[in-house]
Amino acid sequence: MPPKIGTTLPFILKKVEFITSVFDLTQRPKECLPEIAIAGRSNVGKSSLLNCLFQRKQLAHTSKTPGKTRSLNYYKVNNQFYLVDLPGYGFAKAPKELRDQWADLMAKYLEDNSQLKGAVQLIDSRHGITPLDQQMIAYFHTSELPFVIAATKADKLSLTQLQQTLIELRQQLGDIKPSDVIPFSSKSHLGRDELWKAIHRFLHP
Ligand code: GTP
Ligand code: MG
Repeated sequence: MPPKIGTTLPFILKKVEFITSVFDLTQRPKECLPEIAIAGRSNVGKSSLLNCLFQRKQLAHTSKTPGKTRSLNYYKVNNQFYLVDLPGYGFAKAPKELRDQWADLMAKYLEDNSQLKGAVQLIDSRHGITPLDQQMIAYFHTSELPFVIAATKADKLSLTQLQQTLIELRQQLGDIKPSDVIPFSSKSHLGRDELWKAIHRFLHP
């Protein structure tokens, strides 16, 4: 039998706090701590994934309306590091001005950030990789930032469909380690411990 969820975590989750929403990089938290970025298109399930990791229902605001998270949202874990909920991209109805703002904020955030230790790139299990996801992954490669993929909303697929999706993702991503593509569901908590372990590896390489 697989171990019960939450019993194989590499550390004890003692404290999680929402710190701040950042619309401009000058507003980043004063306290310098290592950061792990949570990236993905709008509506892919970033805020839900954070709530699942934190075991909190609505610490990160989720919504059926895409484009809810427009800022970088900082969550401090165990007083040791930040998980940073990045604004979602690929929101079709977003005006060009907003898309440009997003690209500008992202480029600055990713380019000049010695605190950033790793990223979790979310991909919707049902839709696969989009061109903007590819762009995001290219950013990670350029900045030599280690990352893992969380294939979200896995509960919406049958086991066969999910396995097929994972095979395709691993093929498309080329040189990624198979174990770095993690099937994930905020509903069933599938992949929660694996993701915490990946985050722990980013912090303690
Ligand atoms: P933005 O803030 O707009 O970028 O979106 P987001 O990526 O933070 O997505 P969010 O977590 O708000 O989730 C979007 C929708 O997908 C919500 O209606 C969630 O309930 C739903 N959702 C997220 N994760 C899952 C999951 O694992 N399973 C299922 N079935 N639904 C999910
Ligand atoms: Mg969100």
